[in-house]
Amino acid sequence: MDDTPRARPAALDAILTDATALGFAMSCEERTGSLLATLAASKPGGRILELGTGVGAGAAWLLHGMTEDASLTSVEADPAVQAIAAKHLGHDSRATFTTTDADAWITAYTGPPISLAYVDCRPGKFHRLAALLALLEPGGLYIVDDLLPQSTWPDDHQPRVDAFLAHLPDHPNLLYTPARWASGLLIGARV
Ligand SMILES: C[S@@+](CC[C@H](N)C(=O)[O-])C[C@H]1O[C@@H](n2cnc3c(N)ncnc32)[C@H](O)[C@@H]1O
Repeated sequence: MDDTPRARPAALDAILTDATALGFAMSCEERTGSLLATLAASKPGGRILELGTGVGAGAAWLLHGMTEDASLTSVEADPAVQAIAAKHLGHDSRATFTTTDADAWITAYTGPPISLAYVDCRPGKFHRLAALLALLEPGGLYIVDDLLPQSTWPDDHQPRVDAFLAHLPDHPNLLYTPARWASGLLIGARV
C-alpha cells in the first residue's frame, strides 16, 4: 500500500524551502499533514486550532482540507518561525497567526468550543491536557504527532512521552487511538 499523499498544499514546497534555510527541522511529515487535511475536511465551518505553528507546514495542510467557512487559529511562541507561516499563508482570510505562549493562550481562550485541535507543542499535550480538552466541542478532534522517537528530541524527552501515554486514561472525556504510523500519532475525540 502506497500511503504517500497525492494532493499537497500549494504553499508547502516554498514553506519547506524557507524552513531549510532557517534550519527548522520540526515540520510535520507529509502523511501526518494529509491526515490533518482529511480530519479538517470533516469539520465544515469548524474552528480549527494548532498549538505550535512552526513555519506553517501543518497549517498549510489544515487549510488545504478546511472548508471556506472554517477558521484556523495557529499559536506559536517564536515570532521568527511563525513569520514564515504568515508570509506564505497569511493571505488566507481563514487563518489567524497568534504569537504567544500556548499555555497562556489556553488559559485566556474564551471563544466558542473548538472543533479540532492539533497540538504540536508541550502545552495541551504534556501539560494542560485537561484544560485543552475542556475547550473542545463534543465530538471535537484532538491530534498529536511525534510520539515515536524523533532525531530532534532532547535526551530527556522519552519519559515525557511515556508519561503522556500512561496518563491518557485519566481523561474519561477523551476517546483515543494511538497509531504507530508516520511519526507516531494519537487521534482522539472529545466525548
Ligand atoms: C513541532 S514544531 C511545530 C510544527 C508544526 N505544527 C507543523 O506541523 O509543521 C513545534 C513548535 O512549537 C513551538 N513552541 C514550543 N513551545 C511553545 C509554547 N509553549 N507555546 C507556543 N509555541 C511553542 C516551537 O517554537 C516550534 O515552532
